[in-house]
Amino acid sequence: MEPSGGRTLRVALLGCGTVGSQVFRLLGEQAADLAARVGARLQVAGVAVRDPAGRARVAGVPGELATTDAMGLVTRPDVDIVVEMIGGIEPARSLLLAAMRTGKSVVTANKALLGADGAAMHAAAREHGADLFYEAAVAGAIPLLRPLRESLAGDAVRRVLGIVNGTTNYILDRMDSSGAEFGDALKEAQALGYAEADPTADVAGLDAAAKAAILASLAFHTRVSAGDVYRQGITAVTAADIASARVLGCVVKLLAICERNDGGISVRVHPAMISRDHPLASVRGAYNAVFVEAESAGRLMFYGAGAGGGPTASAVLGDLVVVARNRVAGIRGPDAPSYAELPVLPMSDAMTRYHVALDVADRPGVLAPVAEAFARHGVSIQAVRQEGRGDEAYLVIVTHTARESALAATVADLSAMESVRAVDSVLRVEGEAGE
Ligand code: NDP
Ligand code: HSE
Repeated sequence: MEPSGGRTLRVALLGCGTVGSQVFRLLGEQAADLAARVGARLQVAGVAVRDPAGRARVAGVPGELATTDAMGLVTRPDVDIVVEMIGGIEPARSLLLAAMRTGKSVVTANKALLGADGAAMHAAAREHGADLFYEAAVAGAIPLLRPLRESLAGDAVRRVLGIVNGTTNYILDRMDSSGAEFGDALKEAQALGYAEADPTADVAGLDAAAKAAILASLAFHTRVSAGDVYRQGITAVTAADIASARVLGCVVKLLAICERNDGGISVRVHPAMISRDHPLASVRGAYNAVFVEAESAGRLMFYGAGAGGGPTASAVLGDLVVVARNRVAGIRGPDAPSYAELPVLPMSDAMTRYHVALDVADRPGVLAPVAEAFARHGVSIQAVRQEGRGDEAYLVIVTHTARESALAATVADLSAMESVRAVDSVLRVEGEAGE
C-alpha cells in the first residue's frame, strides 16, 4: 500500500509568480514526501495565470495545466483545494469565495485581502464549512499565525510587536549602516530586487498595516481590518533622524504594534526608535521578527525570512499539508473566532515615548518656554540634547511615556512658538531593552 493510501487530492494553483512558481516546483520535487505526510497524493489540477506563455512557462508548468480561466479552474468539481498566490483584492476575493462556496479548502498568501476583508472571508469559511489558512500572508516563512491561532489559544496575548516588512527594514538598515538618505537607500533596495518597482505599499506602511490587522485579529479574537490600523510609513525618516537615534543608542525600525489595554486594543504601524540592546534592533536586511507577549507564556520571539519565493512557499505548503490532512480526515481545522469584539482605540489614546527634534534660535531663554510647552500638556521630559548650528540650535527632547494626544498638543504649541524655527521630526520611542 502506498503511503498516500492510493488517494489523490487535486490542487488548483492561482498565480505562478515569485511565490506560485516555488510552490509549483516544490509540489513536484517533494511529491512523495508530501503524499506520505498527508496520506494522499497532491496533484496539480491547473495553474491560473494571466499569460500562460510567460512566467508559468518559465516555471515549467505544462501547457495543458496553465489557464487564464481562474474562475473555471476554482469551481471545477474535481478540485479539492485552492491555493491563491495572485495577490490584491480582486479577482482574488471572488475566486476564494467561489472556492469556499463550492466546498473547496483554501490556502492564500494574500495579506491585502485578509487585512481588508478578513471578516467576510472567515464568515464564508464558517458558512461553507471550509478551511481557510493564510500563514504566508504575515512574515513569509515564519510560523506566526498558527502559534497565535492554536498554540496560544489557551493564553491571553497582551502584545504583538515586530518588524513585518522586509523592504522597509532593508531600507532603514541601509540608512543606519551607510548614512544614506531615504531616496538613495530605496533606489539601492530596488536595484537589488528587495523593493518593487512601485514600492508604495511597503514604504507607506500599507503592507505592514494589513499584516498588523491580521495579527491583531488573531491575537485578540477581534476582527480588525487594515482601515482600523493607524499607519505612518518611512518616507519622512531622514538621515538626521537615524543619526540622532544613533547618538541615543537607538536604531529606527518600522514597527507593527498590537496592544491590549483596559479599554480595548491599539493597533498601529509607524517608524520608531528602539534601543540597540533590544533584540529587534539586530534584525538586519530584509528579515522579519515578531515579539508576542502573553500572560502565561511570557515573551516569545519569532524570527526569519519574511519574504521571497522559497521562504513564502514553505509557509504556503505547510498550510496546504494541514488542509489536505483535514480533508483526508474529513474534518475542518480550527476557526479564528472573533468573539471578544474589543474596541479598537483611537491613536490619540496610544501611550508611548517620543523623540522630538526642533530647530530653535540659539539664544538665552529659548529652552524654558520649550520645556514649559511640554509641562503644560503633562508630557514629562526624560532627556534633552542640543547641538549648536551658527545662530540656530538642533534641540532633541526625549519624553517619558505620554499620551499621543498630549504630545500632539505639545507639538502644535511648539510649532507656533517664534523661537522654534521648525519641528524637524517627531519619532516614537518603543520597547524596553530587556524585552
Ligand atoms: P507575483 O506578482 O510575482 O505573481 C502573481 C501571479 O499571479 C502571476 O503569476 C500572475 O500571472 C498571476 N495573476 C495576476 N493576476 C491574475 C489574474 N487576474 N488571474 C490569474 N492570475 C493572475 O506575486 P507574488 O508571487 O510576489 O505574490 C503572490 C502573493 O503572495 C501576494 O498576495 C503577495 O502579497 C503574497 N506574498 C508575497 C511574498 C513575496 O515575497 N513575494 C511574501 C509573502 C506574501 P502572470 O504570471 O501571467 O503575470
Ligand atoms: N513586500 C513585502 C515585504 C513582502 O517587503 O516584506 C512580504 O510580505
